Amino acid sequence: MKTRIGIDSLAVAVPRRYLDITDLARARGVDPAKYTQGLGAREMAVADPGEDTVSLAATAARRAIDAAGLDKSELGLIVVGTETGVDHSKPVASFVHGLLDLPRAMRVYDTQHACYGGTAGLMTAVEWIASGAADGRSALVICSDIARYGIDTAGEPTQGAGAIAMIVAQNPALLELDIGISGTSSTHVHDFWRPLGHREAQVDGHYSVQCYLDAVADAYAGWKTAATERDVSAALARICYHVPFCKMAKKAHLHLGFDEASFETQVAPTLGLCARIGNVYTGSLYLGLAGLLDAQATDLARRRIGLFSYGSGCTSEFFSGTVANAAAERIAAARIADVLADRERIGVEEYERIMAMTAPADEPPQPGRFRFTGVEAHRRQYLRA
Ligand code: HMG
Repeated sequence: MKTRIGIDSLAVAVPRRYLDITDLARARGVDPAKYTQGLGAREMAVADPGEDTVSLAATAARRAIDAAGLDKSELGLIVVGTETGVDHSKPVASFVHGLLDLPRAMRVYDTQHACYGGTAGLMTAVEWIASGAADGRSALVICSDIARYGIDTAGEPTQGAGAIAMIVAQNPALLELDIGISGTSSTHVHDFWRPLGHREAQVDGHYSVQCYLDAVADAYAGWKTAATERDVSAALARICYHVPFCKMAKKAHLHLGFDEASFETQVAPTLGLCARIGNVYTGSLYLGLAGLLDAQATDLARRRIGLFSYGSGCTSEFFSGTVANAAAERIAAARIADVLADRERIGVEEYERIMAMTAPADEPPQPGRFRFTGVEAHRRQYLRA
């Protein structure tokens, strides 16, 4: 019998503060319609230094484990996809492993290729289970990042922060992946990168959009060929794209030859959460998936959806999976609406003050969250609430 493998549980963690994108536009002397209609943004998550990549990752991971009701001893692998790690050597996954008191007998590491890092982790986890090496155990795959371009740059309204944690397992309750059916496209380009020692990314914005479009056309064609060869239907009920800003998903969809009506049905339902959080780099594709399942899992049960992951630099992959019957119930356990509702709107002055901070303020973690509290003897310290 065919082994079913995929995403069993998914949870989200976001910073406690956000900026309304129209407030940012007005402060920069820009017509708000450029950000809301031109980029498709509504709100932008603002992380303070206490909400670093580790604390967001650990918070999301604890929620994903709880949502699945998983016994930690069933985990054999943690992979964190990130491009905003906290140390040149010690991975974010190692901090998460310690903060969550996970078993010793595990593989624990990070993967990096810009926004593709989380997908690299997901594919590794799926193939680890499919190979039989997992021996019945599950994997924890986390995407965690803080997207920063800097004050008053063209990229500023496309910032964001957050983590998405996924339990990858056999007989998944959310999404069964089509193993081996994917299209990939990679080229060596300088569209977006972050030199060592820089807090903000360097980006050739319009070129990066073109690199993404070239990649999605190639990867989608590769996926279609693979699907046809395996007799898998290429009809997709929805497509989740990597979402650096919401308009990018629309550009990608039209570039693949679909029309506006198809965008409204197949893609618009994937953008709700992305518009309210901004770019979360590795997690952006999975934020789209989380929002889609939270809104439409019942209607999508047993239907195939497409997913496109893009990491600048660049590498990309188009893949697919079928929504599980239990998806609506499982995604409800992640309480995504509560996670969003539990945020505070701040003004531009407060956002700029937070952006200038280099160390965490002395405040306790909120219930259920982890928080970075500072460095002692070169060791990063965290508190859990
Ligand atoms: P920009 O150059 O300031 O904006 O920044 P623009 O002039 O291109 O305008 C943006 C859109 O707003 C345009 O729509 C305008 O027409 C429209 P389009 O023609 O593209 O459809 N517009 C208006 N609409 C309504 N009312 C108005 C108005 N004015 C203009 N008054 C840019 C845009 C994307 C370049 C910038 O935000 C940026 O550099 N962002 C960061 C880079 C990025 O997100 N790239 C995406 C592809 S690369 C990627 O996805 C990887 C990434 O996630 C990183 C990783 O892999 O790690 C970034």
